[in-house]
Amino acid sequence: MSLPGKIVCIGAGYVGGPTMAMIAKNCPMIQVTVVDISQPRIDAWNSDDLPIYEPGLDEVVKACRGKNLFFSTDVDTCVAEADIIFVSVNTPTKTKGIGAGMAADLTYWESAARGIARVSKGYKIIVEKSTVPVKTAEAVEKVLTSCADSFFTFDVLSNPEFLAEGTAISDLAKPDRVLIGGKESDSGRKAVACLASVYQQWVPKENVVCSNLWSAELTKLAANAVLAQRISSMNSLSALCEATGADVQQVGYAIGMDTRIGSKFLNASVGFGGSCFQKDILNLVYICDSMGLKEVAEYWRQVIVMNDYQKTRFVHRMISTMFNTVSNKKIGILGFAFKKDTGDTRETPAIDVCRGLLTDGAKLDIYDPKVKEDLIRSELQLGKFEWDHPQAYANRVAGIKDESINVSSSAMDAARDSHGIAILTEWDEFKALDYEEVFKVMVKPAFIFDGRNLLDHNALRKIGFVVYGIGKPLDPFVTEHKET
Ligand code: UDX
Ligand code: ADP
Repeated sequence: MSLPGKIVCIGAGYVGGPTMAMIAKNCPMIQVTVVDISQPRIDAWNSDDLPIYEPGLDEVVKACRGKNLFFSTDVDTCVAEADIIFVSVNTPTKTKGIGAGMAADLTYWESAARGIARVSKGYKIIVEKSTVPVKTAEAVEKVLTSCADSFFTFDVLSNPEFLAEGTAISDLAKPDRVLIGGKESDSGRKAVACLASVYQQWVPKENVVCSNLWSAELTKLAANAVLAQRISSMNSLSALCEATGADVQQVGYAIGMDTRIGSKFLNASVGFGGSCFQKDILNLVYICDSMGLKEVAEYWRQVIVMNDYQKTRFVHRMISTMFNTVSNKKIGILGFAFKKDTGDTRETPAIDVCRGLLTDGAKLDIYDPKVKEDLIRSELQLGKFEWDHPQAYANRVAGIKDESINVSSSAMDAARDSHGIAILTEWDEFKALDYEEVFKVMVKPAFIFDGRNLLDHNALRKIGFVVYGIGKPLDPFVTEHKET
């Protein structure tokens, strides 16, 4: 199968940007262009300050930009010229109407599909690259078929992205698998082979897996749901560990040694976050509900319920330990991103934890090495799932400044004069802090609530801290919170 000459990707976000940069790096013979309707986003991709932070991304973009990697807002021209069109636009969770709070809103997908139909001639391969519920490819095919003229023929493929933020470049360089779903027709098979030949420039053949369209689409939701389920399982056990004196890290380590289970995604935490897990599970639940599979829907819904419980439990533990009130007490929040090595705050557990503390009257001093003040403030004001809706987001960002929140530019500043600190993201720099100094600047008794089990708790206790770790045997000082 001959390689395509030109590839375009609609949507210059967390998925489109890094993925296209990696294709450009490994396929110097292919011209890759990333297009977006947002001029500021494209300007940022063309600048020295890329719009997303991802270790290793700068180097890849700098090596290819201007050679065979381009960023543009001229969507129509680039789409018209391309052989393969990746669609990597946002699929926000609906905030109103049928399926509100669960189903994916396909407005952006539909508008991208209509745009493709309007300007395309000849034959093109259209690749669904964003997280979308099953049957999106079918919907897109319907839009294209009814809008396109007879000079335009196409195949729609599903090529779900499995990269995780913070490790996107290494995930893309050495993917566990690349999954390509297509129709079981002659033309569909050829399209799958064409896209496979692109990935095979750097991914071993046996790691490029082909399937039918629906399997590929469902695999994306299923993979994330199963990963999230493991975390929720460990989080449920963390509550039991605290009640019994077991240590969830010891339990997780020993479970993970069973080769049938494996060691990854067994770390109990303050809760999982990110743009995919919650959204994908809710999509899965919605699809199950719509198919009348009530028990299946309930089963997956429980993964989210457990995640919400874990965040609430953490807040309750903090409050009850700090003598049943945090009213007017300063609390240092270390880490706001949903995990380390990213500035992404979508669905970060920090939002619910901070809101819970604010509701009890706390004064927060927040520090995150990669999240800017504006983003922290707007996240704490936005309603659920509004982050993915550009207009709602723009309106809220201009909102009022909450005086109960201060955003600091160092961990030390956030800790100064605070009664307690909460570690909400596992940034490496929090491990390297001088905790003797931290202890000195805090109000006594000084509490540390380690939502990521990141720190050496015994060393902290020697300094004088009262320490709470998720699923760890409790300090005598940490108050038993009876769940209701
Ligand atoms: C995830 C999937 O891993 C990826 O394949 C998919 O394409 C997109 O969604 P991402 O959201 O970037 O990637 O992050 P991931 O590393 O999976 O972590 C998700 C959340 O789970 C984070 O908040 C993380 O801190 C938390 N987590 C992860 C735990 O709490 N415990 C663990 O053991 C692992
Ligand atoms: P993801 O995390 O899936 O990559 P993002 O929200 O980071 O999602 O990125 C999606 C991008 O798609 C946004 O930058 C948005 O401006 C862009 N976009 C949405 N609709 C269109 C469209 N019809 N044409 C071009 N770009 C679009």
